[in-house]
Amino acid sequence: MRRAKISIIGAGNVGATCAHWCAAAELGDIVLLDIPATEDMPRGKALDLMQSSPIMGFDSNVVGTTSYDDTAESDVIVVTAGIPRKPGMSRDDLLSTNAKIVTSVGEQIKQSSPNAVVIVVSNPLDAMVQQMWKVTGFDPARVCGQAGVLDTARYRTFLAMELGVSVEDISALLMGGHGDTMVPIPSCTSVGGIPVTQLIDAGRLEEIVERTRKGGAEIVSLLKTGSAYYAPAAACAQMVEAVVKDKKRLIPVAALCDKEYGVGGYYVGVPVVMGSGGVEKVIELKLTDAEKADFQKSVDAVKGLVATMDELLSA
Ligand code: NAI
Ligand code: 2OP
Repeated sequence: MRRAKISIIGAGNVGATCAHWCAAAELGDIVLLDIPATEDMPRGKALDLMQSSPIMGFDSNVVGTTSYDDTAESDVIVVTAGIPRKPGMSRDDLLSTNAKIVTSVGEQIKQSSPNAVVIVVSNPLDAMVQQMWKVTGFDPARVCGQAGVLDTARYRTFLAMELGVSVEDISALLMGGHGDTMVPIPSCTSVGGIPVTQLIDAGRLEEIVERTRKGGAEIVSLLKTGSAYYAPAAACAQMVEAVVKDKKRLIPVAALCDKEYGVGGYYVGVPVVMGSGGVEKVIELKLTDAEKADFQKSVDAVKGLVATMDELLSA
């Protein structure tokens, strides 16, 4: 059986760690690409990872490169190329630099892997995935962004810590953009099937949501040299697995929403069914009036970001 071909663009912290998770789970053969200025760095990381395979017991092939030729005909591409934030920076401060990087990466992907499912990670996420879709012109089902799996994982971690229960028993949903306006959906959050609102009072739940919203900044302030990568990379690997194994996972993903939720043609975090075709279905939930208002605020923030990006790119 042919193994899936997974290319990861950007061999930095998130990219290399994603390669690690994907290889360890034998999701396919992996190509790790970075810019020529990094010289042999991606080759070094790939070789190091390969040399862990006899110990960890995986048979994935991992190749490091600076040439898109090696990524040709990938089944899945994870885009982590770009700069991460440092203390004091917001994700939006990365807009100008990363929009240009994502544009050039998108142009290369369009030529080398026209049938790939593309998972964008670079920040500010919602604008970057919108730009990737515009540049590649791919079917929107095959262009999506990773944010919701990470944000939900942070929320689940904090809820498990609060209640002293296994993370495995926490099921949760957050929607909206990858930023301070992300929207928790308490009616879709449960612990062993019990609605979370029966276990944690509203005030404390709001504090946990607030910590989740600022979860990325909390890690940046601790690391000081960059942003989170273990959990983001694990989130990407879960999405890659959904595609290569056609898992039909129901997970929150930045997906193009037009009529869905009345968004009008923007990428935003929503629950989707993810399988070999990428985003195979956007799930439309009945939101309460308060959730609708919060979601709209989040969508408006994403629209503002995309407008600023378009201005910067056309200047
Ligand atoms: P990093 O600095 O460790 O790695 C980024 C890599 O991208 C570097 O090796 C750099 O040389 C490479 N790169 C730059 N331009 C490139 C190009 N044109 N083509 C190929 N590679 C290129 O940064 P890290 O921590 O891996 O983060 C990467 C991006 O992911 C950042 O924008 C960060 O904000 C974002 N991020 C997003 C998350 C999400 O949930 N959506 C979570 C964590 C990070
Ligand atoms: C995070 O949430 C930096 O977006 C990244 O950690």
